[in-house]
Amino acid sequence: MRHHQSNHFPLTIMTAKRRILVTAALPYANGSIHLGHMLEYIQTDIWARFQRARGHEVWFAWADDAHGTPIMLHAEKHGMSPEALIEQMNAEHQRDFDDFGLSHDHFSSTHTETNRALVERIWSRLKDSGAVSTRTIEQFFDPERKMFLPDRFIRGHCPRCGAEDQHGDSCEVCGATYDPTELVEPRSALSGATPVMKKTEHYFITLERFRDSLKSWVRSGALQDEVANKLEEWFGERLRDWDVTRDEPYFGFAIPDAPGKYFYVWLDAPVGYLASFKEICKREGLDFEEWLKPDSPTEMHHFIGKDIIYFHCLFWPAMLEGARLRRPTAVHAHGFLTVNGAKMSKSRGTFIKARTWLDHVHPDTLRYYFAAKLGSGLADIDLNLDDFRARVNADLVGKLVNIASRSAGFIHKFGQGRLAAELPDPALYQRFVDAHESIAAEFEQRNYHQAIRRIMALADEANRYIDEHKPWVLAKEEGREAEVLAICTQGINMFRAMMTWLAPVIPQTASAAGEFLNTSLDDFDSITQPLLDHDIERFKPLLKRVEPEQTERVIEASRESLEQQDTATVKEESEDSPTIEFGDFAKVDLQVARIVTAEHIEGADKLLRLTLDLGGSTRQVMAGIRGHYEPSELEGRLTVVVANLAPRKMRFGVSEGMVLAASDADGRPFLLSPDSGAQPGMKVS
Ligand code: MSP
Ligand code: ZN
Repeated sequence: MRHHQSNHFPLTIMTAKRRILVTAALPYANGSIHLGHMLEYIQTDIWARFQRARGHEVWFAWADDAHGTPIMLHAEKHGMSPEALIEQMNAEHQRDFDDFGLSHDHFSSTHTETNRALVERIWSRLKDSGAVSTRTIEQFFDPERKMFLPDRFIRGHCPRCGAEDQHGDSCEVCGATYDPTELVEPRSALSGATPVMKKTEHYFITLERFRDSLKSWVRSGALQDEVANKLEEWFGERLRDWDVTRDEPYFGFAIPDAPGKYFYVWLDAPVGYLASFKEICKREGLDFEEWLKPDSPTEMHHFIGKDIIYFHCLFWPAMLEGARLRRPTAVHAHGFLTVNGAKMSKSRGTFIKARTWLDHVHPDTLRYYFAAKLGSGLADIDLNLDDFRARVNADLVGKLVNIASRSAGFIHKFGQGRLAAELPDPALYQRFVDAHESIAAEFEQRNYHQAIRRIMALADEANRYIDEHKPWVLAKEEGREAEVLAICTQGINMFRAMMTWLAPVIPQTASAAGEFLNTSLDDFDSITQPLLDHDIERFKPLLKRVEPEQTERVIEASRESLEQQDTATVKEESEDSPTIEFGDFAKVDLQVARIVTAEHIEGADKLLRLTLDLGGSTRQVMAGIRGHYEPSELEGRLTVVVANLAPRKMRFGVSEGMVLAASDADGRPFLLSPDSGAQPGMKVS
């Protein structure tokens, strides 16, 4: 690339190279990634990419959060080991993240030996410093499952308003919060058994010991004002000791020298940030200890959602302090994503998985839309799908890409693809250069919406310039080729500046634009020198308009993926099933059933509602076989049902079992039937 010397655009650029560790909250390994997660991960990725583009050393260390009771139970439910489950989810998460263009340097897991070693090191230092105490507590215990029950696995009547079937810690009807022991008629959500109180010895971290250092950290500028105020509120009271113990059975790290005790998932999860980074250090030859020492000149930034502030702003810095390690430079919290103005909802089809989005809409468009709405505060962000299309089509396609597509053809027609040697309107370009540091400052402060606003205002100027100079009119006149070339060179340079600024936001589009411009767009500050006397490639469409059908399909598919989950088939387990003991099989109560009635369910494309006669009792079962069977041909038929499946509340009612069907590769079901002569209610084994 050659720069023309006569144009010089003065600008001071901060040159001190920062060394920055960036993290995003570690997603739980028992579920798919959805757009709520993506809000955070896109916010983090834009910041990391921006810092790299400014020439800083950036490491984006990341992982899955693999431990805890829900993951253990989820694995059990699917007949898998937790290790197999977290491995499968890790691969799925990584595919989603790669396809969304996230630029993490490593994606690890909290269930690694690296993390275990770090957890044990931090734990022993905490103990040595006297910050750990033990105490015997009493907790609800499920006598059938033989395990202590986390609050969310206890249900009962609300002690305040009497509402039935409420969670162990709060009532959805009257909003009361309480201790699980206050629930009326408590039951285990796992077995239905009445839990009993049982004593157990737990380890606690004494947060009060860290009060002063936490307070000074809170005032160090590490936190947003809203977050710092929240903490000041918490400091108003004695900080409660933090219970970091869970009893077996648990999927996590065993506490050394404490048989049957495990570290609570929230103790090892943030350590996972460091463990992932340690693996990067090993790979890249970096000095991990240098980054970790209390007075390290390096930076550590955590991006998190507002729901996990307590963990990151109290527990985590206290742990680091107690272990004599550096504290975070900053914790950046964001608000929650709503879709079409409401909480994401499965039945409305707005609980959108990352993969569903990727199947139908370009990831850069979502990245752009989130950036256009994200500020540095904790406000919730709404993804309104109509507004999304309008915004993306107007800004990215209508304003940005349009400048390039209007200019490129003439560069090839009149300049054999070579840009002119001078800008015809250097003052206009200077306005772009003048905006550069403000735009950078907005990205730095996570005011992405302000950065986008400034860039789009310049896009308007660029389009106005092209409109006024009408190269397509001049092109038809004799002898004005040089003028057209100059105008379009100006256009291409304004496009290049904007694409460079937007590269952290829309990386895939920027990379295609870089190929078109025959130059890399990953140096944020390169725009101070215009691109002149330089060959470009032929223009190819960089981004298409988003059509209403695309977002409709996202909603449709999100509804369908819910139905598929509800649809009970044996298909899921048919491939690569792990072996089970006979005892596991014997737990399944299989019985012959007669289908008494079969009917369509309004609004469910895949489900039929079956009434089954089990020889004395009747059941209602939702079966995912609609479209393959006429209801009338099923009535009277015998089949096999799983009779002791816990009832499942579905969108269309409760399903009290599951009928067995084989299915082919296209998902066509073949209902199983016993030989004639079998009677409803017969046991199958
Ligand atoms: N595993 C913990 C984090 C451990 S970090 C050491 C966790 N996992 S999570 O999967 O529930 O959430 C991961 C991140 O996604 C959190 O920061 C959370 O706030 C964020 N979000 C989850 N749902 C969200 C929305 N609907 N909107 C925005 N962010 C959301 O918490
Ligand atoms: Zn209540």
